[in-house]
Amino acid sequence: MIIPENLNVALTQDEEDSLRGSQGPVMAKVMQTVVLYAEAMSAERLADIEGPGHFVIPWSSPGIAPPIEMLEDLVAAGLKTKFPFTLDPRPPFDFENLNLSIEEEEAINEMYKDQTRYDELMFQLGLRDEDAYTCNPYQPEVGNIPQPGTVLAWSESACAVYANSILAARTNRNGAIIDLLSNIVGKTPFTGLITDQGRRATCLLELDTEQLPNAHLLGAVIGSKIQTGVPYIVGLDRFLGSGIRADNIDYLQELGAIIATYSAVDLIHVENITPEAMQHNRQLLREDYSTYVITDEQLDHQLFSYPNLWSDSEAKPIKCFIGCPHLSLRELHWWADNLHKTLRAKNQEKITVETIICAAPGVLRAFEADRESYSKLIDSGVHMSQACSETVFETGLCTGKPIITNSNKLRAYTTARFYPDDELLEVLVSGEDAGGEHGH
Ligand code: F3S
Repeated sequence: MIIPENLNVALTQDEEDSLRGSQGPVMAKVMQTVVLYAEAMSAERLADIEGPGHFVIPWSSPGIAPPIEMLEDLVAAGLKTKFPFTLDPRPPFDFENLNLSIEEEEAINEMYKDQTRYDELMFQLGLRDEDAYTCNPYQPEVGNIPQPGTVLAWSESACAVYANSILAARTNRNGAIIDLLSNIVGKTPFTGLITDQGRRATCLLELDTEQLPNAHLLGAVIGSKIQTGVPYIVGLDRFLGSGIRADNIDYLQELGAIIATYSAVDLIHVENITPEAMQHNRQLLREDYSTYVITDEQLDHQLFSYPNLWSDSEAKPIKCFIGCPHLSLRELHWWADNLHKTLRAKNQEKITVETIICAAPGVLRAFEADRESYSKLIDSGVHMSQACSETVFETGLCTGKPIITNSNKLRAYTTARFYPDDELLEVLVSGEDAGGEHGH
């Protein structure tokens, strides 16, 4: 039993009552867990959660996911999250799009054998609807778009950094399970990125490049360089214009997701672009900030440093995953147009490398409604999926296979090889390495 007087975190009377069981024994346990988490984070108090959650674990994998027994206890006690939440993509069960081997399909069925029950429990605990499974929930077709300043408890790293940076909402990157429990009590530790001070920039990153860098490479350079803290990035507005716009938002989304992959950074300020940087400019910088410069040489070095992890390093690519994180509708159109153009330029009808493009269910539906663009993509031989491509590798059976991607996040988590978009287009059409020397 926790004695509130022995804690550093200050609790309100309601929070203390809940801790002592005023809302039943299961809620008391949930509250205890959240309070101990706040204590471990050295939070001065709890903050009220003001908007829907987005959680990182949609699959029932034992040891990673919240245990089924715990979820059942929560449901039996009648608990659910204060707001309906969205969740990362479903396990890769859409075998018709993913074209996996029998062994892979069997392994996936075995790994996620409790999935039906897990899904049922998630719905009972507040999962919004069938369209809520994606790692790009702030697309208009999905609609989990918090207002600026909204206090949240999100967990998926790609989403937390977007909510903080692009939407100016406030969340720390919470762990799996504590995300759910925090959203049930409706409280999260008042610390880190929830506070004004925690959102101030710890370093100034000057971009000194000739052209706009690939977002996935720039993200990896920034993440690897600073590892933690809040960067204030200068120089991107030369290429991206001012403010958040339809023609730069996908770039910024990918940049944030990759920085968060390579570091513990969950908020970026981009001069003249992101909302808090637009409002406060360099006043966001702390007094003791450090300065870094990012050059073309560093970006090239990043690309060429990636090892080739294929079992046969000379093999031709057999499969490609695009959409980690899930693509927006704009990006689906970009791939449809550019694959079509590249094929026409080569007098070819279909791509050579089997390609799967992943996006949210609602985004895929909206894309399908545009028959012309949809036909372009499907006719070129692309498959579309709602899955998370990384989970396809979780069985271990894909490891070392000649798989390629445009995602530096997928590359970081698996043995897939990374190609920037323009190079990838060539590889997909020709089936050959585009002459790049990276990854060897
Ligand atoms: Fe999304 Fe899975 Fe990549 S959750 S960000 S597709 S690792």
